[in-house]
Amino acid sequence: MTPKRIAEILRQGNPDDRLTIQGWVRTKRELKGFSFMEVNDGSCLASLQVVLDREMPQYEQVLKSLNTGASVEVEGVLVASPAKGQRVELKAEKVVVYGEADENYPLQKKRHSFEFLRTIAHWRSRTNTLGAVFRVRNACSAAVHEFFQQRGFLWVHTPIITGNDCEGAGELLAVTSLDLQNVPRTKEQAVDYSQDFFGKPAYLTVSGQLEAEVMAMAFGNVYTFGPTFRAENSNTSRHLAEFWMIEPEMAFCDLEGNMDLAEQFLQFVFKSVLEKCPEDMEFFNKRINDTVLATADNIINNQFERVTYTEAIALLEKAPDKFEFPVEWGLDLQSEHERYLAEKLFKKPVIVTDYPLEIKAFYMRVGDDGKTVRAMDVLAPNIGEIIGGSQREERLDILENRMQSHGINPEELWWYLDLRRFGSVPHAGFGLGFERLVQFMTGMGNIRDVIPFPRAPLSLDF
Ligand code: 4AD
Ligand code: MG
Repeated sequence: MTPKRIAEILRQGNPDDRLTIQGWVRTKRELKGFSFMEVNDGSCLASLQVVLDREMPQYEQVLKSLNTGASVEVEGVLVASPAKGQRVELKAEKVVVYGEADENYPLQKKRHSFEFLRTIAHWRSRTNTLGAVFRVRNACSAAVHEFFQQRGFLWVHTPIITGNDCEGAGELLAVTSLDLQNVPRTKEQAVDYSQDFFGKPAYLTVSGQLEAEVMAMAFGNVYTFGPTFRAENSNTSRHLAEFWMIEPEMAFCDLEGNMDLAEQFLQFVFKSVLEKCPEDMEFFNKRINDTVLATADNIINNQFERVTYTEAIALLEKAPDKFEFPVEWGLDLQSEHERYLAEKLFKKPVIVTDYPLEIKAFYMRVGDDGKTVRAMDVLAPNIGEIIGGSQREERLDILENRMQSHGINPEELWWYLDLRRFGSVPHAGFGLGFERLVQFMTGMGNIRDVIPFPRAPLSLDF
């Protein structure tokens, strides 16, 4: 019999349905004439209650091996459940234990801290919270593609190994080609493999933007959705060394169109995840952060605030709060400033535009005032910067000047400059940190708990 997923059974199963499930035992309770166990298969938050009758063949023997963590297949018949909160339960007729688990299984009944669970990343997906996180992450990924595909954007695959530092922030992880036959085994043998990819310096990409611009110049609207890397040696709850980024890029588009897209995009994804994972979202609201559902509602039903950097500075100067870092035109906004704007002042996402050109990347379009660039950062309550984007500089001479003042060798980006030589158009795009989005949606405090295998300083165990 083809096994059924527990999510489907709980939604649509009826008494007298005969079926098979497969999953892992969460708990077991032994009573006199019968026993109960809860089985979870990852398809939903809830486990299915299974009733084991003493009359079942080999009852005692089977029961002994049904410990927390054991993998099982149960064939039986659904019956109406007398227990609160569940419509049906499964009356077992045949139980097969695939793999037993003894008392050393690390996920015993008690609640574990997220810190502890990070040390056993290979087990934590079997917990309620991380299970819910990864289902929401999946629904979010699907919604990303749905959003762009519905609008005719092409999903383009930009390289992971690259020769350029798109952001110019110097947070690069280098790639080295190793001759595996001659890898040094001892300290004495060690050689310096300094940034050598078959004779050229190469890095793991910090952003697919520059290559996405190439594709937008042929297809109009494109997006990337892939891993990006930063040699981020900071131990914060918002940074990873390996994170996923979504980067739409649109030809014939200015900053206003870019802001509209960012807003519609976030609204679409929140709505879609609420529809697809209602139980998981309610769980986050109840157990992780009681603002999760209100935040989703706020995103879906309100327009984002839009202010220029210059206006933001004026608002911060008037703020009653005492900030640790100075507020002054020309200085970058610190996370305390961003949080003030999004959390305290506007209480919703804020799009800050037109930053001073000195503090932003070389590719951003210089504004009419000659002092600012057409940049946009979307700041979210509890998260801070969730999106960074801009209209791109499409004028060759100005771009060349900007590269020069950023110390970028034009020869290294000859192809990027070429896009401005032949058929250049105004264009714009942004980058959304996917893990920050999942954090925002679920209320999870630490970014390491929204990606299955976090890569950050000191976490590379497996
Ligand atoms: O603001 P960033 O650096 O922008 C870019 O890379 C542009 N090239 C994007 C574009 O216009 N196509 O990064 C974009 C977003 C940030 O807003 C943040 O959400 C996320 O990527 N991000 C990180 N997320 C997790 N860990 C890190 N170390 C991150 N660095 C950036
Ligand atoms: Mg940024």
